[in-house]
Amino acid sequence: MTVKTTLAAALAFAMAAPVLAHADAAKPWEGGDPAAGKVVAQKCQLCHYLEPNKVKIGPPLWGVVGRHSGSVPGYPYSTAMKNYNHVWTPENLYVYLEAPMKVVVGTKMTFAGLKNPTDRKNVIAYLETLK
Ligand code: HEC
Repeated sequence: MTVKTTLAAALAFAMAAPVLAHADAAKPWEGGDPAAGKVVAQKCQLCHYLEPNKVKIGPPLWGVVGRHSGSVPGYPYSTAMKNYNHVWTPENLYVYLEAPMKVVVGTKMTFAGLKNPTDRKNVIAYLETLK
């Protein structure tokens, strides 16, 4: 191999690598299975109702996808959640649900999280049906 072709190969790799990395990590929160997610959501129901306007220990999860954090009227959110100031997009839910108490430090959602990425994407797909 000449210096020129080696350089060309290195360049081609350098340009392709980020594209490949992006494809591999492409939106892991998408494409979940709502039926499997419904089973995962049983864990949430210890503290959340899935119906509208029904407060348990936590705020209702009905309509949570696309809702602004801390925005259910009358629900006594922690200061941490009041200040979090994010929209619950599938991406933000995917990050939050892995370790709620690390993502929103001071939250009163005392749930260790869903460590399994497939559980997270499935539960998000199920939550998206609650509207
Ligand atoms: C041990 C009880 C408990 C469990 C289990 C639990 N949550 Fe929560 N959750 C809460 C509480 C309490 C809050 C309010 C947090 C605050 O104000 O800091 C909350 C808040 C949330 C929020 C923010 C809602 C908003 O209106 O901003 C989301 C999203 C959420 N929970 C999703 C889930 C999902 C999905 C599960 C199941 C995988 C789950 N939670 C399991 C207690 C729980």
